[in-house]
Parts: sequence; structure tokens; C-alpha cells
Amino acid sequence: MINKNDNYDYAKLFSYLDDLNSSANSDLMNKYQEIIEYEFTHFIPAVRFDSALFLYQLALIKQPQNILEIGFGSGVSTYFIHKPLMSLKSFFTLEKDESRYRRGLNVLKSFEMENVTLLNDDAFTFLQEYRDKKYPKFDYIFLDAGKKDYLSYLPIIDEIIAQGGFLICDNTFFNGKVAIEEDQLTKSYIKSVPLLKKFNIELGKSNLYNTSYFWIGDGMSLSIRK
Ligand SMILES: C[S@@+](CC[C@H](N)C(=O)[O-])C[C@H]1O[C@@H](n2cnc3c(N)ncnc32)[C@H](O)[C@@H]1O
Repeated sequence: MINKNDNYDYAKLFSYLDDLNSSANSDLMNKYQEIIEYEFTHFIPAVRFDSALFLYQLALIKQPQNILEIGFGSGVSTYFIHKPLMSLKSFFTLEKDESRYRRGLNVLKSFEMENVTLLNDDAFTFLQEYRDKKYPKFDYIFLDAGKKDYLSYLPIIDEIIAQGGFLICDNTFFNGKVAIEEDQLTKSYIKSVPLLKKFNIELGKSNLYNTSYFWIGDGMSLSIRK
């Protein structure tokens, strides 16, 4: 919470925080940049560095065995979740964009993540099939795909997450748009921002999880399945 007596210069504080994190984790920072720049042809979205560190620390504490990532993108988050794991049974990551998928296969090879399964699949198709086949439940799920879809993923995630499992969602601030009055939103955000806000509220109210929201990167939530 912002304390009314604080007189913070937030821009300077965030830059200070970035410097601290980069110097405390210089090897990870180098990897972060290497992955983003790997076979770089055009912009590919990736989690911010502090978000990547959050994913890393949570994986380090939890040591999950069955992992699901929805939204591979550049592969940065995959790397940061995978890096601290001491053992692993399954790690599925989903990417519907074919060129990102093809680049991703090389990223997995080049950054020593051969035991990660990257699928060029639509997440909804994969999740429905996974739910029906009753494979082992996931104990670490990272949701970072289309923000307008988060709400639709939730009922399926509820069924495939293990007790005590972590559900981590990125972009809960949606580029800061969640704090803008809805009648001020530009056309491309008019439908998606209210949907994401609804998701944030529903997740927080769900009796299935203990949920907290954090000011990390573009906003992140951590929900722990009861
Ligand atoms: C924000 S990016 C992910 C960034 C990634 N987590 C990283 O750190 O590099 C979201 C990705 O999700 C993919 N995506 C969106 N909707 C999807 C769906 N329904 N199924 C599979 N992939 C999807 C997009 O193509 C995009 O590459």
C-alpha cells in the first residue's frame, strides 16, 4: 500500500530496483538479454526482468514437478521457471504462433531446456484435452497469453491444478490500463480491459485459492490452490 506520508519518486525508485536486481543477478540478466536477442527478427513479447526473477524464486521454493505455461513467447519465462529446478516430470509450454514456436524449439536446445515440451497448439484445445485425459495435475501454472482470455481459462485451470499448486498470472495491470476509467480507453482496449479486470476480481474471490496481487513488472498475481 502507498503510505500517504511517502514522498517517493516512483520512476527513480523503479530504476534503482532494476539496478539492484541486475547487479544481484548479473548471470540471469545476461541470459535474459541473450534469449530476447536470440535469432531476433522482430519484436516478441517477454516478461519483464523483475517478473522473470519472481517466477525463478517461486520455482526455486516450490520445486514443482508438473509445470504448465500458457504463452511461450520468446522463451524468457520458460528459462526462468526451468533454471532452478532440481528435477522435473513434465513441463508443457504452449505457443500458437508458428514462427515463435519454430524459433522456440531452437531456444530450448540452445539454452539447455531439452526436457521442456513446447507445443504449437491453441491453449484452449490443449487444456480441454488435458482435462479430459486426467493426466497428473499441474503444481505450477504460469498464465501469460491473451489478456482477454484469462477469464475463460480460469474454470479449466481450476480443474487441472494440484492442491497446493501455484497459479501465477502476468500483466494483471494490462500496461496500466486497469487504472484508467473505462470510457477513456482506446478502441483496442475497450473489450479486453474490462474482461481482465473481471478476471482479477473473480480470481481474488474464488474460494479455491489464496490470491495476492503484486506490483512486479506489469502486475502479477500469485494464487495458491487450497
Ligand atoms: C506475452 S507473450 C508470452 C511471453 C513469454 N511468457 C515470455 O516471457 O517470453 C504471450 C504469447 O502467448 C501466445 N498465445 C496467445 N494466445 C494463445 C493461445 N490461445 N494458445 C497458445 N498461445 C497463445 C502469443 O502468441 C504470445 O506469443
